[in-house]
Amino acid sequence: MSNFWGWFISIITVINIAGCLWLIRWTSKKAPGEEDTTGHVWDGDLKELNNPLPRWWLWTFYLTIAFAVIYLVIFPGMGKFGGTSGWTQVGQYDQEVQAAEAKYGELFARMAATDIETLAMDENALRAGRNLFVNNCAMCHGSDGRGARSFPNLTDSEWMYGGDPSTIELSIMMGRNGVMPAWGPALGADGVAQVTEHVLELNGREHDATLAAAGTEKFAMFCAACHGPQGKGNQALGAPDLTNDIWLHSGSREGIAQTISGGLNNRMPAQGEILGEDRVRVLAAYVYSLSLGGERGTNTE
Ligand code: HEC
Ligand code: HEC
Repeated sequence: MSNFWGWFISIITVINIAGCLWLIRWTSKKAPGEEDTTGHVWDGDLKELNNPLPRWWLWTFYLTIAFAVIYLVIFPGMGKFGGTSGWTQVGQYDQEVQAAEAKYGELFARMAATDIETLAMDENALRAGRNLFVNNCAMCHGSDGRGARSFPNLTDSEWMYGGDPSTIELSIMMGRNGVMPAWGPALGADGVAQVTEHVLELNGREHDATLAAAGTEKFAMFCAACHGPQGKGNQALGAPDLTNDIWLHSGSREGIAQTISGGLNNRMPAQGEILGEDRVRVLAAYVYSLSLGGERGTNTE
C-alpha cells in the first residue's frame, strides 16, 4: 500500500471522528426553550419540539467515540501506524497455525511411528488420512480417489509407479512427472496410425491387422524401451501398461493416436514440503487402503 492511501484513510477517519464529536456537542448545547420548536405543527396544535438528546443517550455517543480513539491507538487502523499492541492479522494466523500444529502434529507423529501396512488397518489413522485426502488430493484425484482423465485412479489395481506402501509414500512425498516425447515428427501420420493399430492389438481390441503388422516393428524401435516389448509398461519410468483396459488418458483410437503423436507431460506436485513426512505417511496408508479394494477402472470411451 502506498503512503498516499494510508494518509487518505487516516485523514478521513480523523475528520469523521472529530465531526461526530462536534455534531453531538452542537446538538446538546441548545438550551431547552419553551418555544424552541422545529416549526412543524399537526392537527392544529400538535407541535414538534426541538429538545436536546437525553443525557444517558449522549454519553453512549461519547463512549463510542472514546472507543474508536482507544481502538485506533491499540490496533492497526491509521495508515502505517501499527498500533501499540503489535497485533497483526498475519501474527494471529501464525499463532493459530502453531496451536493447531501443537495439537495435531503430535497426533500425526504418533501415527507415523507405525508402518504403513499396520496404519492401513487402523480406523483412526484412516479417518485422519481421509480428511487429509479430501483437503489436499481430492481436487485432482476425486473425493473417492477414483481420479479423472489424466489424473490416475488410486483405487484400482494398476499403478504407474508401483502400489507397494513405500512407493506410494514416495509418489506423494516427491511428486511425479510422467514424460513421453511426441512421436508425430519421427513417425509421420502413417507411422502414428500403424503404431496406434498395434497398440489396439496389444490391448486385445478390434484393429486393422495390416496396419498393426506394420506398426509392430516401429513399436519395438520407438516404444519398447519404455513400455516393454509386450507393452506391459515399466513402473521405474511410470510408463503405463498398454495391454489392459485401464487408460490414464483417452483410450479411444483417436485418443491413443493423439497421445502418441503429441506426447505427454503429466505432473503431480510434490507434497512432502507442504504436508511434512508424518502427514504423508498417514496419507500413504489411506491410499494403500483404497487400493486393497482392488477394483478395476475402465476408460475406453
Ligand atoms: C521415454 C519413455 C517412453 C517412450 C519411448 C514411449 N512412451 Fe508412451 N508413455 C510414457 C510415459 C511415462 C507415459 C505416461 C505419461 C503420464 O504420466 O501421463 C506414457 C503414456 C503412453 C500412453 C497413454 C497410456 C494411458 O494409459 O493413457 C500411450 C498410448 C503410449 N504411451 C504409447 C506409446 C507409444 C505407441 C510409444 C512409441 C511410439 C511410446 N508410448 C513411447 C513413456 C514413454
Ligand atoms: C495438481 C493435481 C494433483 C494433486 C493435488 C495430487 N495429485 Fe497425485 N497425481 C497427480 C497426477 C497428474 C499424477 C500422475 C503423474 C504422472 O502422470 O506421472 C499423480 C500421481 C499420484 C500417485 C501415483 C499413482 C500411480 O499410479 O503410481 C499417487 C500415489 C498420488 N498421486 C497420490 C496423491 C495424494 C495422496 C495426493 C494428496 C496429498 C495427491 N496425489 C495430490 C495429480 C495430483
